[in-house]
Amino acid sequence: MIQLIRGFKDILPDETPTWKHIEETAVALFQSFGFKEIRLPIVEKAELFQRSIGENTDIVEKEMYTFEGSKGELITLRPEATASVVRSYIQQKLYAKDPIQKLYTIGPMFRRERPQKGRYRQFYQINAEVFGIASPYIDAQLISMLWTFFARLGISGLSVQLNSLGCPACRPAFKEALSSLLASKTGNLCADCVRRQDKNPLRVLDCKVPSCQEVIGDAPSMADYLCDDCARHFRTVQSALTAQNIPFELNPRLVRGLDYYTRTAFEIQTEALGAQNAIAGGGRYDMLTEMLGGPAQPAIGFAIGLDRLVALLMEGLPQQELTPDIFIAAMGEETREKTFAWSCALGREGIRTEIDFSDKGLKALMKRANRVGAAYVMIVGTQEVEEGAVLLRNMETKEQIAIPIDGLVDQVKKYLTN
Ligand code: HAM
Repeated sequence: MIQLIRGFKDILPDETPTWKHIEETAVALFQSFGFKEIRLPIVEKAELFQRSIGENTDIVEKEMYTFEGSKGELITLRPEATASVVRSYIQQKLYAKDPIQKLYTIGPMFRRERPQKGRYRQFYQINAEVFGIASPYIDAQLISMLWTFFARLGISGLSVQLNSLGCPACRPAFKEALSSLLASKTGNLCADCVRRQDKNPLRVLDCKVPSCQEVIGDAPSMADYLCDDCARHFRTVQSALTAQNIPFELNPRLVRGLDYYTRTAFEIQTEALGAQNAIAGGGRYDMLTEMLGGPAQPAIGFAIGLDRLVALLMEGLPQQELTPDIFIAAMGEETREKTFAWSCALGREGIRTEIDFSDKGLKALMKRANRVGAAYVMIVGTQEVEEGAVLLRNMETKEQIAIPIDGLVDQVKKYLTN
């Protein structure tokens, strides 16, 4: 048997209602905060991700699915959506219509990471991105919207991790201080961090290897290096979050795995999922539109990891199943034409209808109605058709009533929706 590829998964019907519920909750909330939907391709030129996420990140170094197009160009399955949204903002000149754009998009991302619980090679995100607003209040508003989103889903036990990564004016001095500390402790770093040490020293800060953790314990904090503008921005984000009663923790080790961030960086973490505890992450990326050849525009956004959120919601929750409202137990080929027409008409009326077209007896049909969890069974045999009325059986109370065939669909509908 051909099996699915490691790191990929099927989302089965008992899970899809939860996915839909999450997506609908997000869309309704985001729309009330002024967001509009954008839908983008899942492949882009490899260069887009190399330039935006950064050559020296884990994602670009080893996790991208890249292949050659027919002309030898390198094409990549998107590992994230932000770069594509920025590409579109520039290419479609959305900024010319209005530099302020609030966009959301939902869909699959691809990263060749080592699969484990909560970490897949195809996973799904809901992204929200805001262009053209430099004010720190939008940072706080986005985090506040995210907080409301999780509250609406009834999720608790979350923490907001917050950091500022500075800007090109102040980050170099911090990087230098960090690099010189790392250089003096190279012997204690893991092989990955020895490599990162020169190319991308910030990434060492979130390495989980215990010996690296020890080195990092003495690391300088970006907060001490922020320039006046970045420091003021960061203070306002914090006071605005406090004003909204959003609890947050300052986390100087939060660096995020993508290079485009400036200033505010944040993650929403849960206690409930083990190692893969980030269910949303984001931050400001004020340099990215210009870096990718567009006009300089400040921007900020986040992505929610849907797979992890679904896992969190499904834990311990009773599963709501889409069981049929009515099961038509039709016996005998002579009834087929009528029952077929009723099943189509009831379905069109929004009544969840099941029908069995095989030639089974009443006992087998009732067994099947039970198995699919039907609320009512409509019993139709040749005798019922001759007598001009069918039986409608309430599967819970076992009560049965007769419904005349004349005007049946309307009457069943009225009965079931009362
Ligand atoms: P990210 O932190 O790489 O950020 O991903 C965001 C979320 O996607 C994570 O917090 C996690 O829930 C989920 N996620 C990431 N990788 C996996 C995986 N392999 N399996 C399952 N879930 C995963 C970004 O992608 C940025 N583009 C976010 C952003 C938007 N920043 C600004 N705008």
